[in-house]
Amino acid sequence: MKQRRKIRKQKAHIAFVLNGEPCEVAFAPHKTLLEVLREDLNLTGTKHGCELGECGTCAVLLDGKPVLSCLVLGLDAEGREVTTVEGMQLPEGRLHPLQETFADLGAAQCGYCTPGFLLTALELLAKNPKPTREEIAQALSGNLCRCTGYIKIYEAVELAAAHMRGEKAEVAEEVVYGLKS
Ligand code: FES
Ligand code: FES
Repeated sequence: MKQRRKIRKQKAHIAFVLNGEPCEVAFAPHKTLLEVLREDLNLTGTKHGCELGECGTCAVLLDGKPVLSCLVLGLDAEGREVTTVEGMQLPEGRLHPLQETFADLGAAQCGYCTPGFLLTALELLAKNPKPTREEIAQALSGNLCRCTGYIKIYEAVELAAAHMRGEKAEVAEEVVYGLKS
Protein backbone atom coordinates (compact mmCIF):
# COMPACT_ATOMS: atom_id res chain seq x y z
CA MET A 1 0.00 0.00 0.00
CA LYS A 2 1.27 3.33 -1.01
CA GLN A 3 2.11 5.48 1.89
CA ARG A 4 0.66 8.88 1.58
CA ARG A 5 3.12 11.66 1.96
CA LYS A 6 2.14 13.81 4.87
CA ILE A 7 1.92 17.42 3.83
CA ARG A 8 2.17 19.74 6.75
CA LYS A 9 0.37 22.96 6.20
CA GLN A 10 2.57 25.66 7.52
CA LYS A 11 0.87 28.56 9.20
CA ALA A 12 2.12 32.04 9.77
CA HIS A 13 1.66 33.45 13.25
CA ILE A 14 1.62 37.17 13.94
CA ALA A 15 0.93 39.52 16.82
CA PHE A 16 -0.52 42.97 16.24
CA VAL A 17 -2.98 45.46 17.68
CA LEU A 18 -6.51 45.07 16.39
CA ASN A 19 -9.07 47.74 17.24
CA GLY A 20 -7.00 48.82 20.21
CA GLU A 21 -6.52 45.32 21.65
CA PRO A 22 -3.49 43.01 21.39
CA CYS A 23 -4.23 40.17 19.00
CA GLU A 24 -2.47 37.02 17.81
CA VAL A 25 -3.55 34.95 14.87
CA ALA A 26 -2.30 32.00 12.82
CA PHE A 27 -3.18 31.71 9.12
CA ALA A 28 -1.99 30.38 5.78
CA PRO A 29 0.87 32.71 4.85
CA HIS A 30 -0.45 33.57 1.39
CA LYS A 31 -3.61 35.15 2.79
CA THR A 32 -4.37 38.81 2.39
CA LEU A 33 -5.21 40.97 5.39
CA LEU A 34 -8.82 40.99 4.14
CA GLU A 35 -8.94 37.19 4.26
CA VAL A 36 -7.27 37.02 7.66
CA LEU A 37 -9.76 39.52 9.12
CA ARG A 38 -12.81 37.82 7.68
CA GLU A 39 -11.84 34.15 7.73
CA ASP A 40 -9.45 33.79 10.66
CA LEU A 41 -10.71 36.52 12.97
CA ASN A 42 -14.41 36.47 12.01
CA LEU A 43 -14.49 40.23 11.55
CA THR A 44 -16.84 40.35 8.60
CA GLY A 45 -17.48 44.09 8.77
CA THR A 46 -14.65 44.55 6.27
CA LYS A 47 -16.23 43.76 2.94
CA HIS A 48 -14.95 41.68 0.12
CA GLY A 49 -15.38 43.39 -3.25
CA CYS A 50 -13.24 43.37 -6.39
CA GLU A 51 -10.01 42.06 -4.80
CA LEU A 52 -8.22 44.18 -7.40
CA GLY A 53 -7.71 47.41 -5.51
CA GLU A 54 -10.47 49.17 -7.44
CA CYS A 55 -13.57 49.45 -5.25
CA GLY A 56 -12.35 50.48 -1.77
CA THR A 57 -14.90 48.31 0.01
CA CYS A 58 -12.13 46.42 1.85
CA ALA A 59 -10.49 49.57 3.28
CA VAL A 60 -9.15 49.39 6.83
CA LEU A 61 -6.71 51.59 8.73
CA LEU A 62 -3.14 50.36 9.08
CA ASP A 63 -1.22 52.49 11.55
CA GLY A 64 -3.98 55.06 11.12
CA LYS A 65 -3.80 55.26 7.32
CA PRO A 66 -6.37 53.78 4.94
CA VAL A 67 -5.17 50.73 3.02
CA LEU A 68 -6.94 48.30 0.72
CA SER A 69 -6.82 45.11 2.74
CA CYS A 70 -7.24 42.99 -0.41
CA LEU A 71 -3.81 44.21 -1.55
CA VAL A 72 -1.99 43.82 1.79
CA LEU A 73 -0.66 40.49 3.01
CA GLY A 74 -1.77 39.45 6.46
CA LEU A 75 1.92 39.06 7.27
CA ASP A 76 2.37 42.81 6.76
CA ALA A 77 0.20 43.52 9.81
CA GLU A 78 2.85 42.05 12.15
CA GLY A 79 3.54 44.50 14.99
CA ARG A 80 1.22 47.14 13.55
CA GLU A 81 -2.14 48.68 14.40
CA VAL A 82 -5.19 47.68 12.40
CA THR A 83 -8.57 49.36 12.74
CA THR A 84 -11.68 47.87 11.19
CA VAL A 85 -15.24 49.17 11.25
CA GLU A 86 -15.85 47.04 14.36
CA GLY A 87 -13.33 49.26 16.14
CA MET A 88 -15.24 52.49 15.45
CA GLN A 89 -17.84 52.15 18.15
CA LEU A 90 -17.43 54.36 21.17
CA PRO A 91 -17.49 53.29 24.85
CA GLU A 92 -20.77 51.75 26.06
CA GLY A 93 -21.56 50.62 22.53
CA ARG A 94 -22.41 54.12 21.26
CA LEU A 95 -22.08 54.70 17.55
CA HIS A 96 -19.36 56.95 16.19
CA PRO A 97 -20.76 60.29 14.88
CA LEU A 98 -19.92 59.15 11.34
CA GLN A 99 -21.95 55.98 11.81
CA GLU A 100 -24.87 58.03 13.15
CA THR A 101 -24.91 60.52 10.30
CA PHE A 102 -24.47 57.82 7.65
CA ALA A 103 -27.56 56.11 9.09
CA ASP A 104 -29.57 59.31 9.60
CA LEU A 105 -28.93 60.80 6.16
CA GLY A 106 -29.31 57.66 4.05
CA ALA A 107 -25.60 57.56 3.22
CA ALA A 108 -25.69 53.83 3.95
CA GLN A 109 -28.25 52.15 1.72
CA CYS A 110 -27.33 48.55 0.85
CA GLY A 111 -24.39 49.24 3.17
CA TYR A 112 -21.84 47.13 1.34
CA CYS A 113 -19.49 50.04 0.69
CA THR A 114 -20.14 51.70 4.06
CA PRO A 115 -17.32 50.26 6.22
CA GLY A 116 -14.72 51.39 3.67
CA PHE A 117 -16.23 54.88 3.46
CA LEU A 118 -16.48 55.18 7.25
CA LEU A 119 -12.84 54.30 7.85
CA THR A 120 -11.56 56.51 5.04
CA ALA A 121 -13.66 59.40 6.36
CA LEU A 122 -12.45 58.69 9.91
CA GLU A 123 -8.85 59.19 8.82
CA LEU A 124 -9.77 62.34 6.88
CA LEU A 125 -11.45 63.92 9.93
CA ALA A 126 -8.53 62.95 12.16
CA LYS A 127 -6.17 65.02 10.05
CA ASN A 128 -8.63 67.65 8.81
CA PRO A 129 -11.54 68.35 11.20
CA LYS A 130 -13.19 70.85 8.83
CA PRO A 131 -12.79 69.55 5.29
CA THR A 132 -14.42 71.24 2.32
CA ARG A 133 -16.81 69.30 0.11
CA GLU A 134 -14.01 69.06 -2.45
CA GLU A 135 -11.56 67.67 0.11
CA ILE A 136 -14.12 65.09 1.20
CA ALA A 137 -14.77 64.04 -2.39
CA GLN A 138 -11.04 63.81 -3.02
CA ALA A 139 -10.39 61.73 0.13
CA LEU A 140 -13.23 59.33 -0.72
CA SER A 141 -12.49 59.11 -4.43
CA GLY A 142 -11.07 55.57 -4.11
CA ASN A 143 -14.31 54.25 -2.61
CA LEU A 144 -17.11 53.25 -4.95
CA CYS A 145 -20.82 53.27 -4.11
CA ARG A 146 -23.53 51.94 -6.40
CA CYS A 147 -26.50 53.18 -4.37
CA THR A 148 -26.23 56.70 -3.04
CA GLY A 149 -24.88 58.92 -5.80
CA TYR A 150 -22.27 60.07 -3.24
CA ILE A 151 -23.99 63.35 -2.25
CA LYS A 152 -25.54 61.81 0.86
CA ILE A 153 -22.16 60.41 1.83
CA TYR A 154 -20.52 63.84 1.52
CA GLU A 155 -23.34 65.42 3.56
CA ALA A 156 -22.98 62.74 6.23
CA VAL A 157 -19.24 63.37 6.54
CA GLU A 158 -19.84 67.14 6.76
CA LEU A 159 -22.48 66.72 9.47
CA ALA A 160 -20.36 64.26 11.46
CA ALA A 161 -17.40 66.65 11.22
CA ALA A 162 -19.57 69.46 12.62
CA HIS A 163 -20.77 67.24 15.49
CA MET A 164 -17.18 66.19 16.24
CA ARG A 165 -16.20 69.87 16.41
CA GLY A 166 -18.94 70.31 19.01
CA GLU A 167 -21.22 72.33 16.73
CA LYS A 168 -24.96 71.87 17.00
CA ALA A 169 -25.39 71.42 13.28
CA GLU A 170 -28.79 70.23 12.13
CA VAL A 171 -29.52 68.58 8.88
CA ALA A 172 -31.84 70.45 6.52
CA GLU A 173 -35.25 68.77 6.19
CA GLU A 174 -34.90 68.48 2.41
CA VAL A 175 -31.66 66.52 2.85
CA VAL A 176 -33.57 63.80 4.68
CA TYR A 177 -37.00 64.00 3.02
CA GLY A 178 -36.22 65.59 -0.35
CA LEU A 179 -37.64 68.81 -1.79
CA LYS A 180 -41.36 69.41 -1.27
CA SER A 181 -43.24 69.48 -4.54
S1 FES B 1 -11.97 44.45 -2.53
FE1 FES B 1 -10.22 45.62 -2.15
S2 FES B 1 -10.35 47.33 -3.47
FE2 FES B 1 -12.05 46.08 -4.00
S1 FES C 1 -24.71 51.97 -0.10
FE1 FES C 1 -24.84 50.34 -1.57
S2 FES C 1 -22.92 50.35 -2.59
FE2 FES C 1 -22.86 52.10 -1.31
